[in-house]
Amino acid sequence: MAKAVELVASALCLLALSGLVHGNDKNKDSRFTIEGKVFCDPCRVQFITKLSQFLEGAEVVLECRNVETGNVTYSVNGKSGKDGNYTLKAEGDHGDEVCEVAVVSSPQPDTCGEAMDEIAPVTLTDIESNSDIRYANYIGFMKKDPDAECTQVLEELGIYPDDPDEDYAEDDVSAPEEPAAPAN
Ligand SMILES: *[C@@H]1O[C@H](CO)[C@@H](O)[C@H](O)[C@H]1NC(C)=O
Ligand SMILES: *[C@@H]1O[C@H](CO)[C@@H](O)[C@H](O)[C@H]1NC(C)=O
Repeated sequence: MAKAVELVASALCLLALSGLVHGNDKNKDSRFTIEGKVFCDPCRVQFITKLSQFLEGAEVVLECRNVETGNVTYSVNGKSGKDGNYTLKAEGDHGDEVCEVAVVSSPQPDTCGEAMDEIAPVTLTDIESNSDIRYANYIGFMKKDPDAECTQVLEELGIYPDDPDEDYAEDDVSAPEEPAAPAN
């Protein structure tokens, strides 16, 4: 009897192993659909406010990079359509790489042309959702100077541009750090 249990157990184990191998085979044929939106941020906060507008005709790129070398291993270009929507099709399993969508060029380079630092990470490997659609964070461009209405809109959200504690609209990147006081 003990022998029979052992046999069943090892048979189950083999089945599980072959399942794993089979799963890996399948991953090579993975196809993913990445959906997201591109917007113009007139307040330089890098998130959607009621003053934001979706941008049609923005170029975006999906890039996957080797984690160690940082080399780009895979890329797909696309363009946003109506409502700022874009759809990218990716092939293959990229679970070992870091993949993200970024904006490339704005359809309004003069008025809303500064790319946000925000990128949209996407997971291009089979996850337990049965879905091959990946929804990316919204990304986009900022105006050089915030619209006048921004102050009020941000105040409604509880964000005060003059609050030094708020990490908001940091365009003062040139200021050197205070030198550390020598420790005695
Ligand atoms: C990719 O990484 C290797 C190091 O592993 C490096 O020698 C090579 O120059 C890189 N290629 C590119 C295009 O950056
Ligand atoms: C754009 O995407 C949103 C979902 O993110 C969808 O509700 C809307 O219908 C899409 N618009 C177009 C024109 O495809």
